[in-house]
Amino acid sequence: MADIQTELCGINFPNPIWTAAGPGGASAEKLLEAARGGAGGLVTKTISVSAARVPIPNISSPSPGSLLNAELWSEIDHDKFIAEEFPKAKTSGLPLVASLGYSPEDLRIVGKKIQQAQAVDAIEFSIHYVGKDPENLQAIARSLREVVDIPIWVKLSPAILDLQAVVEALDDMVDGYVAINSVGPALDFNIQTLQPHLGSADGRGWLSGRAILPLGLHFVEHLYRLTKKPVIGVGGIRRVEDVIKYIMVGASAVQICSMAVLRGQTVYGQLAQELSDWMDKQNYPMLEVLRGIYHRRQKHPMYLLGEGTQLYPEISYPHCKYCDLCVKSCMHGAISFIDKEYLLNREKCVKCGLCTSICPYDALYMKES
Ligand SMILES: Cc1cc2nc3c(=O)[nH]c(=O)nc-3n(C[C@H](O)[C@H](O)[C@H](O)COP(=O)(O)O)c2cc1C
Repeated sequence: MADIQTELCGINFPNPIWTAAGPGGASAEKLLEAARGGAGGLVTKTISVSAARVPIPNISSPSPGSLLNAELWSEIDHDKFIAEEFPKAKTSGLPLVASLGYSPEDLRIVGKKIQQAQAVDAIEFSIHYVGKDPENLQAIARSLREVVDIPIWVKLSPAILDLQAVVEALDDMVDGYVAINSVGPALDFNIQTLQPHLGSADGRGWLSGRAILPLGLHFVEHLYRLTKKPVIGVGGIRRVEDVIKYIMVGASAVQICSMAVLRGQTVYGQLAQELSDWMDKQNYPMLEVLRGIYHRRQKHPMYLLGEGTQLYPEISYPHCKYCDLCVKSCMHGAISFIDKEYLLNREKCVKCGLCTSICPYDALYMKES
């Protein structure tokens, strides 16, 4: 059986699929539920000096598989979290990671107490509400580094545009990276009442779930090239293929938030089993062989429209489940199903490639011919 155990910064995780900071890590009770659901590591909701006063309502689902939230951070006082929730969560036997935020002073106060209590295995600090100025981020990381001796990871916001500058500022200060946090601000509302679905002052919140997977993959792929430190991928995971993609672009582990909210906290164990089964089938004995493989691929050539490119969708029948999505989604009517076969009309096909990505079974790919 494929080995999916993961070692990160000297900490051993039974599998690389963990909770993400959010409802799945809101309390010891939720963390223990995640452990029973097969999570390989436990990350708490973000804890800060003062408990959050969370607006009501605070979570909505703007589209299938996605969430919009205004949950802020933990509503549990940090002293109570350290004294009561951490020790209870630790009874799971899994590595425990505290998510902390936000200012240098906040991190110094909470970090010191966590260090004294020897309560967790690592700390992930969130920069969600502190902007993206590299010097400021460095000051935040330093304040934590000065008071704890366990591994610290920075959880990056997708608002960061100059990732290189951020990595240059933080690389000596942190032991790893987590990417990405939710995206926004974002808005949704009811057209009858004109009421936003969220109760925050401006009705806005943060978007997560399946729509943000490509953004998360972009960050992890880029971080893997910028740093030698481990990178933990989070954002948009809902099926095993998404986990595989994160590992292929370089993730040492992944975290799941929205899907665990929408489908329950058994998703971690299910995905871990599916990952191991997939690796067995594909002959990957261990995660190290898979990790970063995307970077070692043959680089694809760039094709330009209008230069006689003979690149067309090709169907791989062993993978096809005849769902017809390719036929329905082709705006140009170039694919039809005749006599138990999909036929491509090259006159109509504009080689846009949409059908190859829309296929749920990866049965279509672009091929030069
Ligand atoms: C309801 C909710 C609460 C969240 N709370 C936190 C939090 O306290 N701290 C944090 O760093 N990220 C928080 N996040 C962001 C998630 O940890 C994660 O980065 C993001 O949702 C993307 O992953 P996903 O697509 O699997 O949900 C929260 C997300 C959701 C949906």
